[in-house]
Amino acid sequence: MSIRSFASPFKIIYLLLLTLATTEVLAFPAYESLGGLSARQLAEIVPTLNAKVPGRPPGPLRFSGAKLVDDRDHPFRAPGPGDMRGPCPGLNTLANHGYLPRDGVATPAQIIQASQEGFNMNNNGARFAAYSAHLMNGNLVTDLLSIGGKTRKTGQDPRGQPALIAGISEHGTFEGDASLTRGDDFFGDNFSFNPTLFDQFVDYSNRFGAGSYNLTVAAELRFQRIQQSIATNPEFNLRGFRHFTAFAEAAFAVNMFTDGRKTGAQAGHVDIDSARSFFRDGRYPRGFHRANKPSAAEGVELVIAAHFVPPGHNVGVNNYVVDTSQGGLTDLCGFYNFFINTTIKGLYPNPTGVLRRNLNINLDFFYESFNPPNCPQIFPYGRN
Ligand code: HEM
Repeated sequence: MSIRSFASPFKIIYLLLLTLATTEVLAFPAYESLGGLSARQLAEIVPTLNAKVPGRPPGPLRFSGAKLVDDRDHPFRAPGPGDMRGPCPGLNTLANHGYLPRDGVATPAQIIQASQEGFNMNNNGARFAAYSAHLMNGNLVTDLLSIGGKTRKTGQDPRGQPALIAGISEHGTFEGDASLTRGDDFFGDNFSFNPTLFDQFVDYSNRFGAGSYNLTVAAELRFQRIQQSIATNPEFNLRGFRHFTAFAEAAFAVNMFTDGRKTGAQAGHVDIDSARSFFRDGRYPRGFHRANKPSAAEGVELVIAAHFVPPGHNVGVNNYVVDTSQGGLTDLCGFYNFFINTTIKGLYPNPTGVLRRNLNINLDFFYESFNPPNCPQIFPYGRN
């Protein structure tokens, strides 16, 4: 399944808690997605939340050149107990340096601003990533999103186990298979740094990039990870949204993990120590300067052209079936249509009140960031 058509296991735990709680009132986390909940559950939970009207997304940076971002105002501090970190090395780094709230919970506007300030991510790319993640994984009533993993946070499930939160680690939404340094969800951990996969990252950087990660390495490693998932993961999925992000993220690391003081032939090469610092520790290499121009997935066309893999999924191990029904890199309007009409409508079939209002606001922000060519905006819930 590529989207949730029902409440995730994490949410079910909360719902059980809400149902079983007798003396104690258990709060639904302000940053957990409301997607997949029934009308009755929404009627119980939404009034307990602190509703916010989402603000307009931040615009581009005024000064958008290289600058020291590992600065005194943003010292590295490893996450403490309860702080959430997830599958994105960029967002983990921003939280560990205080560009994002250190607990890993933020508004989409904060995520956009931090990605621009801390990595010089371009405004469109940051808005697209933040609003798509927020629509799939955030709490649209409170306007909060967790960048974090399946972290044990609050409450207890009925067997006395700490309850779990998913945030952007929720598999089959933004998070997907064949990541460069994280395992597939099928194998049990889709968000932690995976040392074996990083060894492969180093090996490929040595073989194809003379010891650093660049677009040539990105192309070979992207293909290798897809082949590995096809060969081992019976549930491997590379359709729609994941077709888009799997390729884009391979280029993100080239463009945004390169020190912005590098120019000419040196640009676009990430040394292994720096890569390890970002992917494993969520930490800027000492004295790191952000990219010297706004960027995101520049060069991804080289990654795609080197080994194009059409959108599809495994039907059993080693049986990759092409499936273009959810759109993908070569069909952006198809992707947009599926995202709105199936993914988002599947999560929120009949929203009302403040939830409907905020869904519509976020859907507008998402469309503005993406604006797929010859593809009119869809209004699944009418207009506010
Ligand atoms: C703007 C908001 C952003 C959101 C919502 C976001 C979200 C995510 C998510 C959910 C993943 C996991 C996808 C997977 O399964 O592989 C991911 C991966 C990744 N992100 Fe981000 N991200 C954002 C910004 C950034 C920035 C600013 C950078 C770089 C500076 C970055 C670099 C990456 C990389 C390199 C990966 C791939 C990790 C891997 O394959 O091992 N992201 N991001």
